[in-house]
Amino acid sequence: MRKKIVAGNWKMNLSFQQANALVHEILAADLPMSEQLLGVFAAPFPYLQQIQALVSGHSGFFTAAQNCYSEKSGAFTGEVSAPMLQSIGVSYVILGHSERREYFGENGAMLARKLDRALECGIRPIFCCGEALEIRQADTQNDWVAKQLEESLYHIEPGLAAKIVIAYEPIWAIGTGLTASAEQAQDMHAFIRNRISKKYGKEFAEELTILYGGSCKPSNARELFGCPDVDGGLIGGASLIAGDFLKIMQSF
Ligand code: PGA
Repeated sequence: MRKKIVAGNWKMNLSFQQANALVHEILAADLPMSEQLLGVFAAPFPYLQQIQALVSGHSGFFTAAQNCYSEKSGAFTGEVSAPMLQSIGVSYVILGHSERREYFGENGAMLARKLDRALECGIRPIFCCGEALEIRQADTQNDWVAKQLEESLYHIEPGLAAKIVIAYEPIWAIGTGLTASAEQAQDMHAFIRNRISKKYGKEFAEELTILYGGSCKPSNARELFGCPDVDGGLIGGASLIAGDFLKIMQSF
């Protein structure tokens, strides 16, 4: 059975003290975790090791980095590599978030290399895809997302590709308060699963976890997660509030 994941993407928010308090509060709630449900904290780099130490005794909770570089090591001042993340026990890395694509010029080819580095280190990529508002308005979102998958994922052999989680995040819904309707989310998730099935086979696609991201919050999580192809969420704003994150984790 495929995993259900609620991943909090803190982005560039929270002091270390606030982050620490947030994670303590979430872990203290002692949610009944099934084997299929995972909680992930995508913390800023300087906090990862400490957050990793906090979650390590709690089954079902993991850390994620919000990015990593496309090379293993070397003269790349300011960058963080996948082997560095591996060396402190980080389990996931968000790659291809629309903010990275838009503000830091990350493109499909660069993301393909980042995915390779993460997978070589046994770190599971949470690969983000999704369209801007103009693309949705022109009704070309399926072609857009199909191209994002092809450019960055399709070179990966099935054994490694099985480690990937996909997050569908319509850009027009990120941080805007606008959420994709359950129907829009389900349509796109089913489309993604179908494309992956064509490339990697039906069984593979059935095991793939596909998250929805974009203004997901306690008031809409249950409806979104109730869709047959929505396996959880990548949560921005609502992941900064312990009570909201906990409610979202209980929305399956
Ligand atoms: P949001 O962000 O929940 O604040 O819309 C989601 C994301 O960007 O991952």
